[in-house]
Amino acid sequence: MSRTIVVNEALRFGVPEGEIILDAALSQGVILPHQCRGASCGMCKARVTQGTVDNGWSLGLAISDQEIADGFCLMCQARPSSAEVHLSTVQPIPGGEGSAVQSFEARVLCNTPLTPRVRRLVLQACEPARFEAQAGTYVELALPGLSPHRRYSLATVPSSDGLIELLVARHPGGAASGHVHDLLQLGDIIGVTGPYGTCRLPEGEGPVLGLAGGTGLAPVLSIMEDALGQGDTSPMTLLFSVRDDTELMLLDRLAGLAHAHPNFRYALLVTEARSRFSTKQQYAPSWLRENHESLAGARAVIGGSPGFVAACSDTCIALGMGSEAISADSFTPVAQT
Ligand code: FES
Repeated sequence: MSRTIVVNEALRFGVPEGEIILDAALSQGVILPHQCRGASCGMCKARVTQGTVDNGWSLGLAISDQEIADGFCLMCQARPSSAEVHLSTVQPIPGGEGSAVQSFEARVLCNTPLTPRVRRLVLQACEPARFEAQAGTYVELALPGLSPHRRYSLATVPSSDGLIELLVARHPGGAASGHVHDLLQLGDIIGVTGPYGTCRLPEGEGPVLGLAGGTGLAPVLSIMEDALGQGDTSPMTLLFSVRDDTELMLLDRLAGLAHAHPNFRYALLVTEARSRFSTKQQYAPSWLRENHESLAGARAVIGGSPGFVAACSDTCIALGMGSEAISADSFTPVAQT
């Protein structure tokens, strides 16, 4: 039996028996606020205003027990359990400006190491496909023999020539990242579907903090670079946190942005080892507290592991930032990549 979902009293769609709300929406081309689809970013949080849902699995990072008790759910985990469910999203529904999801084949143009653990993968959409997407979105790659498809955030905004740049970290035992690192050759053709996701620069006038852990740099950098390219003059600071110097990457690109845009600066943070860039090891939350007495009125874009995103979000909120002023992109759990 199909259930009916009504979101923000504006969007209505059906959900087949047993299916997750967000999955059903995306399969029908209905774009709802979301990013990780893994219960860690909180972008898909919504309040149930009518009807009931099964909340499904949650790490407790994106939604608290109190929020569940208050009637909130994660649309990437919840299934409707009444005939009609009305939801009110915390993040706005992406408007008509969102790019349409496409499925196409793409050729590997570049697959080179950036660090011992991360490769830069550049794909070219095959003719006649053109690929347009907003900064902060992600694509799914169909790699041979691997199901489901694997998700990677865009590291740049795709240009009109259809180039797609991704940062792929090797995960121990990860079938997809192992395939990209060890097997994918220049000229290989793979399937791409996207763009998905609604991580973006929160609206407002306040200064912008970009908080990136590891390959979380991809969405954070693409969003900030895109805003700067469009003439945004808000003060912007990008904090790039890694474990040690060997994990630092794209430093030329960061330096180039700082050189070209007086309102942009960046800081490097090394958490676990001596560094030639920093005299002490420090984690992002402690850096935030040390450098900001208050973040009231500021905005943040956060990319990284679920723990990094949760720790940074909590600290930003504790320093006075509004939760609606935070947009996050969290990695898919490692076991799946
Ligand atoms: S928590 Fe649902 S999309 Fe991230």
